[in-house]
Amino acid sequence: MENLLSVNNLRVGFDKEGKILEALKDVSFSIAKGEKVALVGESGSGKTLLALSILRLIEPPGKIIEGEIIYKGKDILKMKEEELRKIRGKEISMIFQEPLSSLNPVLTIGYQVAEPFLIHTKTTKREAIEKAKELLKIVSISDVDRVANAYPHELSGGMRQRAMIAMALALNPSLLLADEPTTALDVTLQAQFLNLLNDLVEKFSLTLILITHDFGVVSETSDRVIVLYGGTICEDSPKAEIFKKPLHPYTKGLLESIPRRGEEKELKPIKGQVPPIGKFPAGCPFRDRCQSAFEKCSEKLPPLKEIENGRKVACFLYGD
Ligand SMILES: Nc1ncnc2c1ncn2[C@@H]1O[C@H](COP(=O)(O)OP(=O)(O)OP(=O)(O)O)[C@@H](O)[C@H]1O
Ligand code: SF4
Ligand SMILES: [Mg+2]
Repeated sequence: MENLLSVNNLRVGFDKEGKILEALKDVSFSIAKGEKVALVGESGSGKTLLALSILRLIEPPGKIIEGEIIYKGKDILKMKEEELRKIRGKEISMIFQEPLSSLNPVLTIGYQVAEPFLIHTKTTKREAIEKAKELLKIVSISDVDRVANAYPHELSGGMRQRAMIAMALALNPSLLLADEPTTALDVTLQAQFLNLLNDLVEKFSLTLILITHDFGVVSETSDRVIVLYGGTICEDSPKAEIFKKPLHPYTKGLLESIPRRGEEKELKPIKGQVPPIGKFPAGCPFRDRCQSAFEKCSEKLPPLKEIENGRKVACFLYGD
C-alpha cells in the first residue's frame, strides 16, 4: 500500500533552563493511505505532541530536535511557511483535544465552519455559509439553521464536537488527526460520535489517526494500534492481534485495566504513574512500572523491532 505519512526518528523536547527535556524520543512509523490508526497511551505519554509535530504546531519552549515527517513524499519539517499553509487544513486537519478552546467564542458556528472556504477558496460569504450548512448536515446536525446561528457556548458538548469535525472536513483533507475527540462526551454520545466518525472516514476516504487514552474507543474505530509511553512507541500492531495477544508489558497493562465486552474479570490498574518528562528511568522508560523488568532494561532504550508479520514491539523480552 502507498505510504501517506512517514515519521522517521522524530525527537521533540522542551528547553528548560538551557537543558533539553525530551518528550518524544526516536519515534518512527508509517501510515498507508486509508488506514485507521489509533494512537493510545496514558496521559502524558506524548500523544498530543506527536500530532502537533505532524502539523508543525509545536511552540517554544518546545521544539523539534530532529527527524523527518514525510507527507506525500515531502518533508513537512523542511517546508517553508507558505507550503505549510497549503498542508494545514487542506491536506491534514486536526480536531483538537479541547473543543471550547479551539472554537472562537465570539463567532457563530456557521461563520466558523464557513471560514476555511472564505480563506482558502474563492467564494462569496453567502456561498461559504451555504457550504457550511451542507457540512453541518453531513455531520448529522438536523437543526442546521439554529446551530449555524449559535455561538459555541450555546451548544451542547456533542454539538460542538460535531461542529469541530465539520470544520476539519471543510477543505476535504486526506489525513485527519482526531485528538481525544470524545473525552468531553458522556458514554452514549461517545458511541454516537465514533459511529459518525467511522461513516465520515468512509465517505471522505480519510486516513485517520485517532488519539485516545481509552482502549475501549480503539476497538470501534481503528484497524491498527500504536501504543505510546514516555515518548516512545512500545508496540505497533494490527488491532485484532493486539487485543488477542498484546506483546509489550505496557500494552498488556493497559488492556488489563479496562473492562472488556463479554469478559468478567478483575480490573488491574497499572502500578505507579507516568512521570513528568525528564524523570523517566534510563533505558526502557517503562522499567520502574514493569513487572518483567530485568538487568538489560536499564542499559538502553529498547529499539522498536518487527518480530512477527506486521507486529512491532520495543521490549527486551522479544528478539535476541
Ligand atoms: N508546553 C510544554 N512545556 C513543557 N512540557 C510540556 C509542554 N507540553 C507538553 N509537555 C509535556 O510533554 C509530555 C507529553 O505531553 P502530551 O500533551 O503530548 O501528552 P498526551 O499523551 O497528549 O497526554 P493527555 O492524554 O493528557 O492529553 C507531558 O509530560 C507534558 O507535560
Ligand atoms: S524492556 Fe524491560 S522494562 Fe521495558 S517493557 Fe520490556 S521487560 Fe519491561
Ligand atoms: Mg493530549
